[in-house]
Amino acid sequence: MTIDLAALPPDFLWGTATSAYQIEGAVAEDGRSPSIWDTFSHTPGKIAGNDNGDIACDHYHRWREDIALMRRLGVDAYRLSIAWPRVLPGGDGPVNPKGLAFYDELTDGLLQAGITPSVTLYHWDLPQVLQDRGGWPERDTALAFAEYASVVAERLGDRVTHWATLNEPSCSAWIGHLEGTMAPGWTDLTAAVRASYHLLLGHGLAVRAIRAAAPGAEVGIVNNLSTVHAATDRDEDVRAARRLDGHVNRWWLDPVHGRGFPADMREVYGVELPERAGDMAVIAAPLDWLGLNYYFPVTVADDPSAPAPRVRTVRRLGVPRTGMDWEVDASGIETLLLRLTDEYGPRRIFVTENGSAYPDVVRPDGTVHDPERQEYLERHLAACASAARKGAPLAGYFAWSLLDNFEWAYGYDRRFGLVHVDYRTQARTIKGSGHRYAEIVRAHRERGRRAA
Ligand code: FCB
Repeated sequence: MTIDLAALPPDFLWGTATSAYQIEGAVAEDGRSPSIWDTFSHTPGKIAGNDNGDIACDHYHRWREDIALMRRLGVDAYRLSIAWPRVLPGGDGPVNPKGLAFYDELTDGLLQAGITPSVTLYHWDLPQVLQDRGGWPERDTALAFAEYASVVAERLGDRVTHWATLNEPSCSAWIGHLEGTMAPGWTDLTAAVRASYHLLLGHGLAVRAIRAAAPGAEVGIVNNLSTVHAATDRDEDVRAARRLDGHVNRWWLDPVHGRGFPADMREVYGVELPERAGDMAVIAAPLDWLGLNYYFPVTVADDPSAPAPRVRTVRRLGVPRTGMDWEVDASGIETLLLRLTDEYGPRRIFVTENGSAYPDVVRPDGTVHDPERQEYLERHLAACASAARKGAPLAGYFAWSLLDNFEWAYGYDRRFGLVHVDYRTQARTIKGSGHRYAEIVRAHRERGRRAA
């Protein structure tokens, strides 16, 4: 598979990504308080195998080894998330110096290794104390988030320039509060819509807070977007696809671009937004970049009996699927990169996550052979390069994930890493796909050197 590396700018950032709860472990150490994911994962029946993040990849203790792995992969950048309950165990104060110290050291360690940290402030681990006060459906949570953003930016802002506020707020709102299969596990449309509003308000307030604390900061938001197809060309299904597009894509993109919440979706939800004068301007704070997480396309049909947005997903036959049962369709990432470019005009776009799960095993010779993940990676990189060739301002790509890790409701059963983790021994093994990624990064760099 050839990738048009010449289409990617010479300073393209090649990275890998993780998130705090999925890798850190050490959930009760150095003053960290529980997050909603500790509560959810310790509720029997919520997670496959009743797994939890108590130990995970033990990254809290093994981060030096993990930086060394990134050096072996030769990546330029590392997307990590900060655990709010480590920094502000009480949710909105006081600051826990040991919690901040961990990220401070990690930042220095990355910089010393020549790796640019890209920091996401919220990757779903809300302090449980804030959930107990109502969580994201309440406005105060957005205010507390801004407070937390300001604490972290003040401490790391002299060294970290690359900031994201939220990771995939649609999962927090829709999966966490409407579908109920992620923390906090609610199934309440009104709460979900209110949560979506306060997540975006919190995002806007955090953008301001980061800029105030770290004037050189480059700030963005990370959304997981999908291409949406109608199962048939019947009007009902075409309208259903439009609704799902509103639900997963437009609801999250329009408000931050100053267009307000999409009117058609307000009608679909029929829930009054907790709006106050001035909020929309906060939510639409100008951004330096957009983050795109892309995994799979969705095909839907109309389903009047389903909760909003009243669709059901349809399985397309004959399409390859990953171990998550997600369809493999690399053209989706190109379509979305071009759509973001044309419809929203971002200054820069980063693919902040993209990757695949397959059931890997370490072979007797100590290697991990994962040709399907390698092919997924190559196809999606080729599609990214093609979008860049057509004008998308693509500035970097972060493979999900550096390590196999705690895959939320699926526990440790699904492996997304470029590096295999043996959870009994915590041994790390670079998979075939990881070696291939290193080769691609090297090839792109050499091309830049030759051109210079
Ligand atoms: C995304 C999440 C990330 C990981 C991947 C597979 O939705 O942001 O934490 O679980 O999916």
